[in-house]
Amino acid sequence: MAGSSSETTELRLDPVTIQAVDASDLLADIVGLPEHLRDALWKVESANLQPWDSPGGMVVAGMGGSAVGGALARAMLGDHASRPILASRTYGLPAWTTPDTTVLCSSYSGNTEETLACYESAGALGARRVTVTSGGHLAELARADGVPVIPVAGGFQPRAAVAYMTVAALEVARLCGAGPRMGAEIDVAADYLEQLVVEWGADSAEDSEAKMLARALHDSVPCIAGSGLTSPIAYRWKCQFNENAKIPAFTHELPELDHNELVGWQDASALGRFAAVFLDDSDTPPRVKERIALTSELIGDQATSTHVIESRGRTTVERVFSLVLLGDLLSLYVAVLRGTDPTPVDVIETLKARLAGT
Ligand code: F6R
Repeated sequence: MAGSSSETTELRLDPVTIQAVDASDLLADIVGLPEHLRDALWKVESANLQPWDSPGGMVVAGMGGSAVGGALARAMLGDHASRPILASRTYGLPAWTTPDTTVLCSSYSGNTEETLACYESAGALGARRVTVTSGGHLAELARADGVPVIPVAGGFQPRAAVAYMTVAALEVARLCGAGPRMGAEIDVAADYLEQLVVEWGADSAEDSEAKMLARALHDSVPCIAGSGLTSPIAYRWKCQFNENAKIPAFTHELPELDHNELVGWQDASALGRFAAVFLDDSDTPPRVKERIALTSELIGDQATSTHVIESRGRTTVERVFSLVLLGDLLSLYVAVLRGTDPTPVDVIETLKARLAGT
């Protein structure tokens, strides 16, 4: 891994330095992940939903930070998903949506037009609707229509509510018959993640994995590869580099990457500074592990640095959230090293306002 000891002293990531750049304290919401997991379970319970049967499976409709929960939940359930579960990030629902399908409309603000369009379509199709939101138009519509609302606390950046959105998707999957009970695993994972917060958080050593990785990546374009369980996490990392660190980042998945992107690295160093990050997991098939090692070796001389990062923990909930936590912290540290406040996403707000004609 890159990062000499002189770099370590120049590019400090101590709590005071972090606080000076992280003006709105996004860090508190990132390291709050374990507590959010427990609170999310409680919030779903407080919605008092009774189980129902959706033989057609579940669609999680949402965008950006509110979509990732559906994708992570799908990955965590893996082979334990007994019905189709799809994270859908657009205006419309899949053609196979019927009254036998549950549609979970996930929007932190409750005002995202694509998700509101899915809410309306699901109603028109007679699908079973559930919402997860902190308020906005979605909560108003749901209350008027008698559609259940799983509440999320206000005051977060939508992307920082990842634990709430994931737990809501897991719990709705269980309620509609598409997934098993996960509450105990989520609780245990919360305890485990507390330890990782200590290991990688602001008070961690200057050479903790998260801080060293941030130093290695802060002046490069991260190209993040996942596979299976880690694919949606690679996308989460990309989005967090985009929104927190305000840098371009790209994602791909193995084994497909070895059939195209691999060649694209041939002259990469002549075009810019690109770093390669591979997200690995104990369940990654041996053949894909071999591909990670070989791909990393073959592109190594064109990348500013290459990294293979292994998930931590035993259960899929622990392993997925270990990498989510690492990516969230890492992207915040990159923001700090670049002197950029990680919280605001002004250009997203500008675009939404211009689309709304305001
Ligand atoms: C902002 C963020 C965005 C939003 C997205 C959808 O932190 O992550 O990707 O999540 O623009 O908005 P919501 O989540 O309010 O439906």
